[in-house]
Amino acid sequence: MKVLILGVNGFIGHSLTSRILRDSDWQVYGMDIGDDRITQYRGNPRFHFLEGDIAINREWIEYHVKKCDVVLPLVAIATPSAYVQDPLRVFELDFEENLRIVRDAVRYGTRVVFPSTSEIYGMCQDESFNEESSNLVLGPISKQRWIYSCSKQLLDRVIWAYGQQGLRFTLFRPFNWVGPNLDHIETAKEGSSRVVTQFLGHLMRGEPLRLVDGGAQRRCITDIRDGIDALMRILRNDGGGAEGRIFNVGNPRNDCSIAELADLLIDILAGYEPYKDLRKTAVVEKVSSEEYYGSGYQDIWTRVPDIRNAREQLGWEPRYDLHEALSHTVQYYIDRATP
Ligand code: UGA
Repeated sequence: MKVLILGVNGFIGHSLTSRILRDSDWQVYGMDIGDDRITQYRGNPRFHFLEGDIAINREWIEYHVKKCDVVLPLVAIATPSAYVQDPLRVFELDFEENLRIVRDAVRYGTRVVFPSTSEIYGMCQDESFNEESSNLVLGPISKQRWIYSCSKQLLDRVIWAYGQQGLRFTLFRPFNWVGPNLDHIETAKEGSSRVVTQFLGHLMRGEPLRLVDGGAQRRCITDIRDGIDALMRILRNDGGGAEGRIFNVGNPRNDCSIAELADLLIDILAGYEPYKDLRKTAVVEKVSSEEYYGSGYQDIWTRVPDIRNAREQLGWEPRYDLHEALSHTVQYYIDRATP
């Protein structure tokens, strides 16, 4: 199988590439503006890479969408501070650029595996979010935090509609996937990366952690190894179970508050010699979301996936608990920390 991954150097893109090259005989064609996460695959004869911007290299993309069996358009801005600070950029990249790729897939009959998002459910009040029955609840327009969710939602709907005209597709919704190389933590400015890496960077540099609005909001932290396992099942599509479906890919058992997450990260880091006093020295501050993100922010208080679809159609089950997911992530950054 020939797999086209746009955004191959991203967190999901490079993790998926690694698994494909290890566990299958598939060819990977990839594009990205950077290559720091994929340097180790560059010599592999089954890995074909072009360094470039998806907004510029349109002919290369069209040619490869035609040539490949499946395309994963993974290029997107996915950090909440960017939704608030640069909403138009989020719309242009996450929606407009990806729509063009979806249309190429329609033109050439190529299967699309598209990253929707857990954010799509917004402030839904359901105990767990179901792909077929949960409402998608977003705040007012002035709360630009929702432009990401809204852009993804519209693309989900467009892909679904093309599906009714024959496009082969699967939508997957990651719920806070974490793992090695999630974000660059060395230079992580406030709000520039996702919470786990944001906290890790602060702790490793001896800076205070900041709990937005008290840290009672909850997330289900999912190990990237489980996420990639689900993606491999979707790509293999044994028995056609992934065809025309939406899958939440998250671990409902790893539900924790952001304050608990901070404590757990402190505990895990304190297990390493340079950080052994962290339980005593770590400073955890409270900050309002207005102060941290600005007035365009609104939060999601609980976000638990219903994963019956993935269990039944893909035979998938998340295996890594919260502690394992975080320890695996921490170990990666510890190994690369400059002494
Ligand atoms: C994320 C992002 O939108 C995407 O990466 C993705 O689509 C999605 O969730 C997902 O992976 O499921 P969110 O979970 O809100 O959204 O983003 P984080 O930046 O990881 O923040 C999680 C929570 O921690 C938020 O409530 C935030 O306010 C809080 N936070 C973040 C803090 O309390 N302190 C910080 O320093 C950073």
